[in-house]
Amino acid sequence: MDKEQFAAEIRAGIPDVLPEPMPYDTEINHAPKRKDILTPAEKKLALRNALRYFPKKFHAVLAPEFADELETYGRIYMYRFRPKYEMYARPIDEYPHRSLQAAAIMLMIQNNLNPAVAQHPHELIVYGGNGAIFQNWAQYRLTMKYLSEMTDEQTLVMYSGHPLGLFPSHRNAPRVVVTNGMVIPNYSKPDDWERFNALGVSQYGQMTAGSYMYIGPQGIVHGTTITVLNAARMQMKKEPGRSDIRGMLFVSSGLGGMSGAQPKAGNIAGVVSVVAEINPLAARKRYDQGWVDELHDNLDELMPAIRKAVGERKAVSMAYVGNVVDLWERLADEGIKVDLGSDQTSLHNPWAGGYYPVGMTLEESKEMMAANPAAFRERVQASLRRQVAAINRLAERGMYFFDYGNAFLLQSQRAGADIMGADGRFRYPSYVQDIMGPMFFDYGFGPFRWVCTSGDPKDLEATDRIATAVLEGIRKTAPEEIKHQLDDNIHWIKEAGPNHLVVGSQARILYADAEGRTKIALAFNEAIRRGEISRPVVLGRDHHDVSGTDSPFRETSNIYDGSQFCADMAVQNVIGDSFRGATWVSLHNGGGVGWGEVINGGFGMVIDGGDDSDRHIREMLFWDVNNGIARRSWARNEGSMHSIVREMERTPGLKVTMPNIVDDSVVDSVFGS
Ligand SMILES: NC(=O)c1ccc[n+]([C@@H]2O[C@H](COP(=O)([O-])OP(=O)(O)OC[C@H]3O[C@@H](n4cnc5c(N)ncnc54)[C@H](O)[C@@H]3O)[C@@H](O)[C@H]2O)c1
Repeated sequence: MDKEQFAAEIRAGIPDVLPEPMPYDTEINHAPKRKDILTPAEKKLALRNALRYFPKKFHAVLAPEFADELETYGRIYMYRFRPKYEMYARPIDEYPHRSLQAAAIMLMIQNNLNPAVAQHPHELIVYGGNGAIFQNWAQYRLTMKYLSEMTDEQTLVMYSGHPLGLFPSHRNAPRVVVTNGMVIPNYSKPDDWERFNALGVSQYGQMTAGSYMYIGPQGIVHGTTITVLNAARMQMKKEPGRSDIRGMLFVSSGLGGMSGAQPKAGNIAGVVSVVAEINPLAARKRYDQGWVDELHDNLDELMPAIRKAVGERKAVSMAYVGNVVDLWERLADEGIKVDLGSDQTSLHNPWAGGYYPVGMTLEESKEMMAANPAAFRERVQASLRRQVAAINRLAERGMYFFDYGNAFLLQSQRAGADIMGADGRFRYPSYVQDIMGPMFFDYGFGPFRWVCTSGDPKDLEATDRIATAVLEGIRKTAPEEIKHQLDDNIHWIKEAGPNHLVVGSQARILYADAEGRTKIALAFNEAIRRGEISRPVVLGRDHHDVSGTDSPFRETSNIYDGSQFCADMAVQNVIGDSFRGATWVSLHNGGGVGWGEVINGGFGMVIDGGDDSDRHIREMLFWDVNNGIARRSWARNEGSMHSIVREMERTPGLKVTMPNIVDDSVVDSVFGS
């Protein structure tokens, strides 16, 4: 399909002539059949809801087809309307547009649906099993049409994948405002998601899926690298005489959207990693992309391979194509010393394909979760109990196990596994409690990212050079507390190009604080102005950040003043970003740990070398980081108190309420010690 035909398809939105039905592609990784949750009356409603996207003349043909999709897959995806053109991030000028900002958003949407990037691309699921960008292909087509025709004086409003419409606004307003899964709090149980999603009225946007900011596994490789690296350093300190982390063994599960980054991160950190993945298609995809070095499906052969790699202190990654419970039990039985352990099955979505119980094939699980959800639930919980028992055996021999933000501890507790310590807390920390929170978020360091809209790798190289120079400049006068983070990130950005981390769009990520993000972005804008970067750059971040997410068992698990169950920070963040220059903003219920368990938000900002972009960078990035630092400081987190005082000293107009720390003796004198 040539450029003109592509542009015409985008402009057409819902086509006037019914496209031919699309054959079901068995080569591609599909979403599991979703639970059959609707009553007969609700099924009629789901059908009415789906048909309202189409003119009456199509209804007689589409009604039975959509009813069949609902019956077969538990959702109406409208497969027939999946476009025939290739799905990938094109150079920005190939998108038909009246607003360059809108064209950048189209690029980001197509990148999120690129089969090399998305987990279940035909079901519009980007990552995490249920992280949707749209609920159906009609929403995709309509949204792209709106984006192609909108001007810089309109804002597109997105309700959980549904484009409500274009509304008049102004140049400095966001071009798109997204909400995903926002429901009345009492209707935020997992089954509510199943029902609303099957009705076609709500979706689970995960974090970067529903906000068009997912950049494939690279986005998470960096975070995973610094997590594994810092976990290994912590573990190393516990072993007297050990001075480097080579030869340490890291064991986990999942080679999916985010979890697929683990073996690559293990290699970059320099350890031996073994990751179990039950789905051979997912494992093969990561192997073909070069993200994991070896595939094994036989535990008898895997064990000696592990021993050899550890003995040789080799940085190598192995996938075990099978159930992680079998792997853990075998490691415990063999007495292999595991240094670091975690889990990245999608336990935020345990009953609908996020976690596959031991003793069943993938197909058996898929069948049972739809046909007999109650029995499937039992199997998942029994499997978790076995998994925890094996992990406990290894932890008793010194393994450092951490929850990787996938609700592993929470679901294990709910399953009745032996996961609670004597003090009523979980036996194991979350990676945010020990690592991310105190070392990164409290100082404002978070997953800043950018995408070069030209699609030209040379532009990405230019941004890498600029970012390195900026960070090296900041490093010269940085306080001791953050030098370490800067060093790791300088090392990362220098290695990023040679490590060929790009999958999909020309994107890069690094961890930076407010100063780093702002200075890097201003330097990019200057380079665009001078023509050293050829086209605009999109800035953004994962929601998994300093200020982006309120999630009591993850991002805000190191908040100890009781406010970890409040979501003011994430909501304020999105509101604040929207009037300080974001090109798009999004607010989500769910993300990472599950529907109803977290509120998070994100932004995208297109910078084009203009003065407006300079102002947006200064105002918005500052707020986007310091909102969270101020909140963490109020929660009495020391790193944040230090950071926000430093920020107030250099920023006129910033006045943050600081906590007074009461002596324990005063509180104890009232309530006893
Ligand atoms: N990487 C990170 O930094 C990070 C951060 C926060 C949260 N998470 C969480 O990690 C989880 C995984 O994310 P994802 O995007 O990779 O999800 P995903 O669904 O794409 O991948 C999970 C993989 O686990 C596999 N799996 C499930 N049960 C298994 C079992 N018993 N044995 C072996 N393999 C099994 C699945 O086949 C799937 O491929 C999510 O809950 C996510 O929220 C990751």
